[in-house]
Amino acid sequence: MNETQRSILEALADGPVSGPELAESLDVSRAAIWKQIDGLRDAGFEIESGPTGYELVDVTAYTGPTVEYGLEAPFSVEYHDSIGSTNARARELATEGEADVAVLADEQTGGRGRLERAWSAPSGGVWVSVLTRPEITPAQAPLYTLAASVAMARAIREAGVDARIKWPNDVVIPVGEDGDYRKLAGILTEMEGETDRVEWIAVGMGINANIDADSLPEGATTIRDEAGDVDRRLFVQRVLEEFDAYRNALESVVPAWRDLALTLGQRVRIDRTAGDIVGEAVDVTDAGALVVATEDGEQTVSAGDCEHL
Ligand code: BTN
Repeated sequence: MNETQRSILEALADGPVSGPELAESLDVSRAAIWKQIDGLRDAGFEIESGPTGYELVDVTAYTGPTVEYGLEAPFSVEYHDSIGSTNARARELATEGEADVAVLADEQTGGRGRLERAWSAPSGGVWVSVLTRPEITPAQAPLYTLAASVAMARAIREAGVDARIKWPNDVVIPVGEDGDYRKLAGILTEMEGETDRVEWIAVGMGINANIDADSLPEGATTIRDEAGDVDRRLFVQRVLEEFDAYRNALESVVPAWRDLALTLGQRVRIDRTAGDIVGEAVDVTDAGALVVATEDGEQTVSAGDCEHL
């Protein structure tokens, strides 16, 4: 969205405004206004022209400009109907020197999950990668991932779904009382930097939103199946706003994570290259590592695949 379009939307927020009035207040020609209004319509803004002027009647489309409109977080939004992977695109943007961009897609044809797994990402989901250049150390990077899981879980809960977090950062729906669950969302964080400085970080969030669960791998569920479809524009705005709030208050991430955790109190197996750890998950550290009470005492695990037993 360009500056003139931004100013037009600002002017229309308070009600209808005529073309000549817009042209005068923005100091551009009436033809320029007409052209920019046309561009906004193409981007999904429903603008009617009536006797009192142009009127913004609805914003329902899911596009870059509509997601940027009303977004209370400092990200520009790049939208794709279809892309290989939003994380791969964010990486590309990082090499071009970009920052504070949310790459969004309706569908990913080569979605990537953790541990080199594929991630099924059909049309209707919320697939978004946020590229930032934070002033943090690589040791703090896991907090960014936890911040994203808290952000997703909170936005999903607002949509009426009992979303919880399975360590480290899967958003799941509990099934029964035994720590069983279905997976609703996941995160893939990629970054580049030096030993003491992160250069860029791309947090890729995948949320099974308006999709039928039976079109996804077993064990997955969707917001549609749990509570019905969401307005993806408003929903992704909430995710981005929550993520922005938590990344700017990293000290509040772990307490918020604890409140939403399904893993704490569970008997778990952590599958690590250095060997499995089995025991009860009792806490997370300030850095987001899981504390497991094993037969041989407490062990702290900072990475691995976690299974609820
Ligand atoms: C996982 O649970 O294994 C992580 C899944 C992460 C998927 C998201 S969808 C948006 C972004 N682009 C990708 O290719 N992957 C992440």
